[in-house]
Formats: sequence, structure tokens, C-alpha cells
Amino acid sequence: MHVSLTLICRSLSTSDLFSLMLSRSALQSNRLLSTSKVLQKQVQNVTIIGAGLMGSGIAQVSAQSKLNVVLVDQNDAALQKATKGIHSSLARVAKKKFAEDAAAQNKFVEGTTKYIKTTTNINEGVKDADLVIEAIVENIDVKRKLFAELEKNVKSDAILTTNTSSLKLSDIGLNLKNKQNFGGLHFFNPVPMMKLLEVVRHAETSDDTFKTLNDYGKAIGKTTVACKDTPGFIVNRLLVPYMFEALRMVERGDATMEDVDIAMKLGAGYPMGPFELTDYVGLDTSKFIMDGWHKAYPNEPLFKPSDLLSKKVAEGKLGRKSGEGFYKYTK
Ligand code: CAA
Ligand code: NAD
Repeated sequence: MHVSLTLICRSLSTSDLFSLMLSRSALQSNRLLSTSKVLQKQVQNVTIIGAGLMGSGIAQVSAQSKLNVVLVDQNDAALQKATKGIHSSLARVAKKKFAEDAAAQNKFVEGTTKYIKTTTNINEGVKDADLVIEAIVENIDVKRKLFAELEKNVKSDAILTTNTSSLKLSDIGLNLKNKQNFGGLHFFNPVPMMKLLEVVRHAETSDDTFKTLNDYGKAIGKTTVACKDTPGFIVNRLLVPYMFEALRMVERGDATMEDVDIAMKLGAGYPMGPFELTDYVGLDTSKFIMDGWHKAYPNEPLFKPSDLLSKKVAEGKLGRKSGEGFYKYTK
């Protein structure tokens, strides 16, 4: 918390800092009173748009906290895949929680899934939402179009958020009329396991919105950190260039991808090497990030496109989710 506050302090004016400190202390006093009670008043219905890797994980952790979830995608196949994935992820969680008790495991899985409804009808899916979390493809045009549509169909006090990995909130929400109720919730993959949630405010996000997003994060068991509306926020601004540099290292012939992965696991203590991690994130998502940042910062060598990545994506090798990326995966 100190680190995130220090990062923000460096770039905020005194008045910004003052209101941030006020909202921090408000947050802390609410935490003493009971965060979940405050949250129940504000966020009970969560709609998640995009039922891929991230959307299904966000649906799962929200349902685990007994929030009513609607999970939306463009087609039934995606929703069916997500439902199956959530079920098996919940089963893994249940195994840990209720080691020897099969009946309790089953009750947990079935009880949690009851909180999740699915639909392909976006307008219907968002109409009762207190909080909407967008987790669709990392493409600015597609996201902008979605947000313009969302705003027409949500309750006037609903909060709209994006789980973008790399785009600026102010770009995604450019055409929103009510920018005060718009913010960022950046989750990490795999959502049920990763404890962090980056809560992001852009210049016009209201204090109330920012506070509600922090309360939501805490209610679903995440540790929240705050970040300004800067591409990649904290984690990806540091992690993604490292992943890109690993690609260039192999393209230059400095080392094999297998050795790069071994080196970073055994020499730096990372749970996965950068190629394993890119497979985990998705090569398509990684390429969207790279292309977007290269377009925005054409002279930045850190964001230079990678032929190796482009070739894999063109071949449909998108990582774990498609069965093959840099490595092959069997079920
Ligand atoms: N759901 C539920 N439980 C899960 C799970 C999931 N999806 N994935 C892992 N687990 C749990 C299970 O309890 C599992 O035990 P079981 O196999 O007995 O069920 C336990 O974790 C250990 O998992 P694994 O044995 O499969 O493997 P592991 O020990 O290597 O842990 C990992 C898996 C947590 C993913 C770990 O490898 C890791 O932390 N990897 C790095 C992940 C990372 O860096 N994520 C950030 C990516 S960047 C990002 O997300 C931002 C972006 O915008 C791109
Ligand atoms: P994914 O490819 O697994 O899933 C995206 C889903 O969105 C697909 O099911 C697709 O059918 C659906 N979709 C696309 N356009 C849609 C629309 N207009 N309406 C409804 N559904 C639509 O992608 P993902 O990995 O879950 O990433 C989703 C978002 O989360 C991206 O912005 C990504 O940058 C971000 N993110 C990804 C990771 C990661 O590790 N993969 C981590 C953090 C954030």
C-alpha cells in the first residue's frame, strides 16, 4: 500500500493528494465498520462481459463472495466452455478447502455456481447490474463500441469498468457520457489464484466510484493497489516488456526458449518462465498489447513487434487456451 501511494504521490498535485488521502482514510474507517455491509448496499449484481480466461475467473471469484453474477459472451459455445472451466476450477478450490469431505466439496461447487447466470444478450445481461466488468478482446475499437452500447442499457448509477491489460481508460471511455462512473479493475491470470487487483481511476473517475471498486476488490478477497490511468498500470508496465524481451532474445539466437524459461524459474525464482507465461496469458492477447503499444510509442524499442509472436498467432497457436503456443498442451 505504501508503494502504490508513493507512486501516485510523485505525480499528483497537492489537492489531488489531499482528496486521495481523504478517500483512503474513508476507506480505512469503512473497513473498521465492515466493508461487506457497505458493499452489499452498493454492489450486489455484477455483470461480466467476455467469458474467456479472465471473464470466467472474475465470475467465479465474484460468485464465491455470494454476489449475483451475469456472464455475457457473444456465443453459446464460449459460455459453455466458461461454465465448464468455472466448474473444474471451483472443484480444485473445493478440494483445498474441504480436503476429506466430498459432500462439502460438492455443496461448495453447486452452491457457488448457483450465483452465476449466463446470456448472449448483452442488453438483458447488464440491465440490473450495479457493476459491469468488461473482459473482451484487447482491441480499442471493439472496446469503445461496447462501452457506447453498454451506457445506453445500464442503470444510471451503475459503475462500468474495464479489465484492460494495456489500454488507457481515457481512450476506452472516450465517448462515455458519464465518465465519473467509469474505472479500471485489472485482474491477474489465473483469477482464482492471483491475489492482486489493480484499481484504476482516470482523471474523471469519482471518489465514490473509486471507493466502491476498492470495496468490491476487498469483498472478493483481493489485495488492491491503486494506479493512475497509465498504459499497463503497475504490473504489466514492468512484466510485459520483460516478456517481449524474452521473445527478442530467442529471435536473436542468444538462447533457446526452453533455456530462457529454465533460467528465469531457477535463477530469478519466477513460477513460470516468460514463454510459459505468454502461453498462459494468450499469444493473441500478448500480440494485441504489443501492437497497441507499438502504435502508440513507435520509437520505443521495448515495444517493437516480434516476428516469432506474429507467426504463432497467424498459425492459430494462441497458447494454453488453444492447446498450443510456444509449447504443446494436452488435456
Ligand atoms: N483455479 C483454481 N485453482 C487453481 C487454478 C485455477 N485456475 N490454477 C491453479 N490452481 C491451484 C490449484 O489448487 C493447484 O492445485 P491442484 O492442481 O491440486 O488443483 C495449485 O494452484 C497449483 O497449481 P499447479 O500445480 O497447476 O501449478 P503451479 O504450482 O505452477 O501454480 C500458477 C500455478 C498459480 C498459475 C503459478 O504457476 C503462477 O503463479 N504462475 C504465474 C502466473 C502469473 O504470473 N500471472 C500473471 C500473468 S499477467 C496478467 O495476468 C496480466 C495481464 O494483463 C496479461
Ligand atoms: P479471451 O480471448 O480468453 O476471452 C475474450 C472473450 O471475449 C471471448 O470469449 C470472446 O468471445 C469475448 N468477446 C469478444 N468480443 C466480445 C463482445 N463484443 N461482446 C461479448 N463478448 C465478446 O481473452 P482474456 O484473456 O479473457 O482477456 C480479456 C481481457 O482481459 C483483455 O482486455 C485482456 O487484455 C485482459 N487481461 C487478460 C489477461 C490474461 O492473462 N489473459 C490478464 C489480465 C487482463
